[in-house]
Amino acid sequence: MAYNLLKGKKGIIFGALNEQSIAWKIAERAVEEGAEIVLTNTEVSIRLGTIGELAAKCNAPVIAADATNIEDLETLVDKSMEYFGGQFDFVLHSIGMSPNVRKGRGYQELNYDFLDKTLDISAISFHKLLQVLYSKNAVKEWGSIVALTYMAAQRTFVGYGDMADAKALLESVARSFGAIYGRDHKVRINTVSQSPTETTAGKGVAGMGGMLDFAHSMSPLGNALAEDCADYVVTLFSDLTRKVTMQNLYHDGGFSSMGLSEEVYHWFLDGKANAENK
Ligand SMILES: NC(=O)c1ccc[n+]([C@@H]2O[C@H](COP(=O)([O-])OP(=O)(O)OC[C@H]3O[C@@H](n4cnc5c(N)ncnc54)[C@H](O)[C@@H]3O)[C@@H](O)[C@H]2O)c1
Repeated sequence: MAYNLLKGKKGIIFGALNEQSIAWKIAERAVEEGAEIVLTNTEVSIRLGTIGELAAKCNAPVIAADATNIEDLETLVDKSMEYFGGQFDFVLHSIGMSPNVRKGRGYQELNYDFLDKTLDISAISFHKLLQVLYSKNAVKEWGSIVALTYMAAQRTFVGYGDMADAKALLESVARSFGAIYGRDHKVRINTVSQSPTETTAGKGVAGMGGMLDFAHSMSPLGNALAEDCADYVVTLFSDLTRKVTMQNLYHDGGFSSMGLSEEVYHWFLDGKANAENK
């Protein structure tokens, strides 16, 4: 159901690779709510993924940009302003990649060149994007910028490796830049901390299946799906959340406030009993 929450609003969506991508669902939902969008991803992801289908569906241009490259970001923002006829209202940063995690390197054996890449792609790209947007005064007053994150920034999860450090930095950038962007241009910046979700990036984390089941069993409302995330992010782009900024907002079915759920407690007991009876 659509509420016209984004009627007349314009924005850039980073990170739609294929139909599973959280950014894909957010792009669809934003357009359903009345927004006009520009889609962006790296040249390689545009070639290997299916963003063209989304672009056709959303009647949106696709402008290639590597989010770690300032020149690319400047061109993207200039072209988007040209396309929109001036400033725009919202931006989604939905970008993450760790070569260490991809290659199965544990946190105790990091390759530091890989770590540089993890941090640059998954966190510093957000600072670069914000700096380009700010310097060009590209976002309208009361505009909204959202980046997606994961709770491994606060708590340790097996298999998440150096992405945890990247997410901690990402969330810190949102706070530090949020203070400046809010003060100077009334633009809000928040991170949304999403449940584990089955996507290309998600599947890169070792043991993702177990993590999904565990999180689901711990969360009173169950895992939040990519579609649920899209609903939530649309409210953050809308005028209904104009005074929310510099926040890390959990969107996880209650997982982040749980210690132990009944279901997991019984799993543990059953597992223990089975082991003792062997
Ligand atoms: N899937 C999960 O379990 C989960 C949970 C919480 C948060 N998140 C976060 O959600 C965001 C989106 O991930 P997803 O799960 O939809 O997976 P995804 O693989 O569909 O999206 C990741 C995107 O990052 C893009 N990307 C990588 N390097 C880039 C670069 N240099 N410049 C521009 N784009 C680049 C990829 O092309 C891809 O589109 C990420 O920040 C991820 O960490 C995912």
